[in-house]
Amino acid sequence: MTLDVPRRILVIGSGGREHALAWKLAAEASVEQVVVAPGSAGIAGTPGVRCMPVNALSGASVVALARAESIELVVIGPEAPLAAGVADALEAAGVPVFGPDASAARLESSKSFCHEIAEAAGVRMARARSFAGGAESLAAAGAFAQELAASGAGIVLKADGLAGGKGVVVTESLDEALGLLPSFLTDRPTDRPALVVEERLTGAEASVIALCDGKIALALPVARDHKRLRDGDAGPNTGGMGAYSPLPDVSDADVLQVLASVHRPILAEMARRGMPFRGFLYAGLMLTAEGPALLEINARLGDPETQVILPRLGVALSPLLLAAARSALPRAPEVLPVLDGAAVGIVLAADGYPGDPHKGDAIDGIETALADGALVFHAGTAAAPDGGFTVNGGRVLALVGRGGDIASARAAAERAADAVGWPGMQRRHDIAAQMPPAAGAAS
Ligand code: AMP
Ligand code: GLY
Repeated sequence: MTLDVPRRILVIGSGGREHALAWKLAAEASVEQVVVAPGSAGIAGTPGVRCMPVNALSGASVVALARAESIELVVIGPEAPLAAGVADALEAAGVPVFGPDASAARLESSKSFCHEIAEAAGVRMARARSFAGGAESLAAAGAFAQELAASGAGIVLKADGLAGGKGVVVTESLDEALGLLPSFLTDRPTDRPALVVEERLTGAEASVIALCDGKIALALPVARDHKRLRDGDAGPNTGGMGAYSPLPDVSDADVLQVLASVHRPILAEMARRGMPFRGFLYAGLMLTAEGPALLEINARLGDPETQVILPRLGVALSPLLLAAARSALPRAPEVLPVLDGAAVGIVLAADGYPGDPHKGDAIDGIETALADGALVFHAGTAAAPDGGFTVNGGRVLALVGRGGDIASARAAAERAADAVGWPGMQRRHDIAAQMPPAAGAAS
């Protein structure tokens, strides 16, 4: 099947994921211009890419920009514009958009909605209950935590709304969980879910992200994120400190099984409810001894997973995104072709992240990393007067090394990360250092 190629594409967002998207799309045949809005100075340095200021949360502003730029496809990167209904506004204006509308994006923006849909679709998740805000919920949430503990399970607390991957606490004891409950419930609205209390699962994690058109799901290369701030999976959860692809413990057959047991049932349930999901459906999985369990759904690409997934993708993305926006994806190949080799990405984060990042420091060494062949994706940088860049966010850069296998890609990423720095920079040194045994696979 020959698919139409969009010549002018608008990518909404300004992070490392959007930089990687723009880099991939701009390199594809027949794509003439990629506009990233609002983007950043670092993203604007990519050949074929221009950045334009826009309020990414305003549907009307994004529609106006799409019209002014004769855009043939809009791709929405982050969760906030999706939850704010920017896709709805574009669809209403007749602009092809890849990204779910606000009702479908609730799969990510409400963890209790995700549990509800997964349960109705027969998709396995951790045992969980959700609780409305307010001190009145404390006793009931505490009782459920006690019930989980009595059954031998650990406890995970999750804020219901969007939290940039930072609203989850994997607790070490019942006492810790009980002590934290007030911070999730007190002073929160009492008429909607504020907290999900979940059974703690163990296993390796995997991100299986599929491109969806409401009915059909085609899997991108599978990746693994490292969520904790510090080496050895210590420290608080973050948005992600590094990622790699492929996963030696997850085969294409495993991915096909995940599409059949997670993505397609979710798509069918969403369509049944009149909320067809068009966009990237990100299944965050825990590969438990009993098989894969769904930890969360995101309504978008992962960050930093995208930065290692897209360099491995062996097909053009832009025609597939346009086809999905028109609800007309081809049915095959269900697992999209990949290029040979591996990619490893290391995130460089600001001092203070995942709390308040310290901004303004000058970044050294980007040119050295580029000269060494690394991909440098900008997440939170600003242009410095001398032509360089300064720190301007929590996660600042993702440095991606490529190689014939994980070990050589990892060596390239480490070399690049060693070359870049600023005062107080935080990074991990163990991204992709240890592979889970193949026995933990999703089979
Ligand atoms: P989420 O945003 O729900 O994916 O949670 C962020 C991270 O918290 C996940 O990637 C896991 O590392 C961890 N996590 C979430 N849910 C669980 C769970 N039920 N058991 C163990 N770890 C979890
Ligand atoms: N890296 C995890 C996420 O994008 O949610």
